Amino acid sequence: MKIVEKIRKIHLQLTVLIDNKLKKKSSVAEISPSCRLQKGVVISFGKKGALHFRNNVKVKVGSVFECQGIIDIGDGSVVGVYNWFQAAGRITLGRNVIIGSHCNFIASSHSFSEKGKDFKYQPLNKGDIEIGNNVWIGSHVTILNNVKIGDDVIIGAHSLVNSDIPSNSIVVGSPARVIKKVWE
Ligand SMILES: CC(C)(COP(=O)(O)OP(=O)(O)OC[C@H]1O[C@@H](n2cnc3c(N)ncnc32)[C@H](O)[C@@H]1OP(=O)(O)O)[C@@H](O)C(=O)NCCC(=O)NCCS
Repeated sequence: MKIVEKIRKIHLQLTVLIDNKLKKKSSVAEISPSCRLQKGVVISFGKKGALHFRNNVKVKVGSVFECQGIIDIGDGSVVGVYNWFQAAGRITLGRNVIIGSHCNFIASSHSFSEKGKDFKYQPLNKGDIEIGNNVWIGSHVTILNNVKIGDDVIIGAHSLVNSDIPSNSIVVGSPARVIKKVWE
């Protein structure tokens, strides 16, 4: 079944703007009927992108999902208003991940190794972002590529996460550093 038909079937057409070019591409979207998407959510695909919203995912106003690679949001997770998922690589969220407003998940970066060539035309390096279960991400957090975040983690507002975070930790700052355990 074509992606656009799938989306129609679950009655999301009033809230979700799908990239028009999608019809010509072999992209996959699986959005559980138990999900709730508020107005202004944008989903766009590359040639082979994939999007999975598991059970009871809630996505609030204005969040953008760019699926050149794979985006997989786990059961019960909540995406706050105006989040941006840039998935040249793979972005996976576990169960019950809660995200504040205006967060960025950037699973790619521009190469700059070719001297004198505009960054726009230099290769895009893909990298994955993997987030565990029960993670609370404060507002205005940015998570870069090649980062793995464990379970039971709290990320303070305005943090920049550019390296792995162990389970059961609270991190803050730019770059984000562990300040303490969540539970002793
Ligand atoms: C991290 C957070 C959960 C607080 O955790 P906490 O255990 O109560 O931490 P504390 O308030 O005791 O702060 C501990 C230290 O970290 C610092 N800190 C706390 N949050 C910080 C942040 N977001 N950025 C930088 N430093 C921060 C405090 O200033 C304090 O520093 P100090 O020891 O030098 O005084 C909270 O500050 C936060 O950022 N919450 C996110 C809120 C949000 O965005 N909600 C969106 C709705 S989902």
